[in-house]
Amino acid sequence: MNKEKKITKTTAVSPANIAFIKYWGKKDAKVNIPFNNSISMNLSDCSTKTTVEFSRKYRSDKVFIDGNEAQGEKKERVVEILNIVRKKAGLSQKARVVSENNFPADAGIASSASAFSALALATSRAAGMELSLKELSILSRLGSGSAARSVVDGFAEWKKGKNSQTSYTVQLAPPSYWDLRDIVVVVAKEKKKASSTEGHSAALTSPHYKTRQSELKRRIKGLRNALLEKQFKKFGELLEEEAISLHMIAMTSKPPIYYWNKGTVEVIHKLLELREEGLFAYFTIDAGPNVHVICRACDSNKLNKRLKKLPGVFFTIVNKPSTGTRLAEKHLF
Ligand code: PMV
Repeated sequence: MNKEKKITKTTAVSPANIAFIKYWGKKDAKVNIPFNNSISMNLSDCSTKTTVEFSRKYRSDKVFIDGNEAQGEKKERVVEILNIVRKKAGLSQKARVVSENNFPADAGIASSASAFSALALATSRAAGMELSLKELSILSRLGSGSAARSVVDGFAEWKKGKNSQTSYTVQLAPPSYWDLRDIVVVVAKEKKKASSTEGHSAALTSPHYKTRQSELKRRIKGLRNALLEKQFKKFGELLEEEAISLHMIAMTSKPPIYYWNKGTVEVIHKLLELREEGLFAYFTIDAGPNVHVICRACDSNKLNKRLKKLPGVFFTIVNKPSTGTRLAEKHLF
């Protein structure tokens, strides 16, 4: 069949994900190969919707994110994915890409995972390609490492692999497997101090990076088992150990990166206090100051109310485990 006939405007939606075991440091920065496996949960209330269309009517690639035309590095990263797909599909048409996040752009919540996984699905389908989950995970990873994990439903493990063809994500459990909540506690709305790209390369300059890697085998196995056996306390302890490990690496990189602010520490102390009261929830923190509070569904309302009252907190977003990257019918243009 003539390939040109199959190309159509396509829209995809994809969730952001929270890493329980983190990807921090790249073995191969060109194609985003990590040093270690990572484990995550897809988030129901933080997603990106993206529409892609290839057409002869476009004279150049144009990318719009949350209503603004993307330029510079932001645009280049999107065009890189368009080029990979164009090459594979044998297309030459330019494209229009329109993308919207359903969470506030100024919330300092990483959108690269949801953005690049939505882009990978929308672009490949718009070009007439039907990728397997593995291929979709690999294509998403080329845009942003953590995007590799957003493609599967629910709980995911990104297997580091040995090269670009063997580094992709598999499902650990479906969304309904464990009724956890991720309360994203927003304590800063400005752009984060150092991008994750900067953080990944700085990580290798920390004298503690080797120690982190030597600890990870035990921690990954422990956290994976705790998740599959739904052992919440054990899971939470490993979750926090892992978050601190990432931030210890960041703070001891050269130059150091301090992602936390006053609000971050306030939330951590509150969680310790609540545990004394018998209310159990655990934190994890990505490359920014906002805190992800992981709790059981039954405790989520109570916790959310208490956390929202803290002076350093702007707002919270309560997430359930979600399905992964999927097609959507309504286009953005
Ligand atoms: O996908 P990137 O390059 O934006 O890196 C993500 C890094 C962390 O969010 C801090 C950890 C992770 O595994 O998601």
